[in-house]
Amino acid sequence: MAKFEHHIFVCTNQRPPENPRGCCDPEGLGNLQILFKKALAECGLKATVRANRSGCLDQCEHGPTVVIYPEGVWYGGVKPEDVTEIIESHIINKTPVTRLMLADGCINTPVCQHKQPRKSE
Ligand code: FES
Ligand SMILES: [Zn+2]
Repeated sequence: MAKFEHHIFVCTNQRPPENPRGCCDPEGLGNLQILFKKALAECGLKATVRANRSGCLDQCEHGPTVVIYPEGVWYGGVKPEDVTEIIESHIINKTPVTRLMLADGCINTPVCQHKQPRKSE
């Protein structure tokens, strides 16, 4: 069996609406991951690309968050209508979807233009 060439991690973490960080899947239905999985199957990529549900990827303020490995490309604000473009452009044509990519200054930083310092920090 061929090994997977890409892993697409889709955050499906749900938090209560009052949580100040928000979350990637307020309804807790995992729809985005289901759409990726379906689209991969339709493109004949089921054997080589895996779309997994993920817990919080700690980029909540930029969500819904998706990260694709081995490239380590982070996407934010991903909507259902972006799924096909990500698969066609990033996976098939090896061209990341720039308009959805998180800026380097937004990743793993305690503060960015979208993220305020947490009270406990
Ligand atoms: S809830 Fe999705 S990154 Fe934290
Ligand atoms: Zn940011």
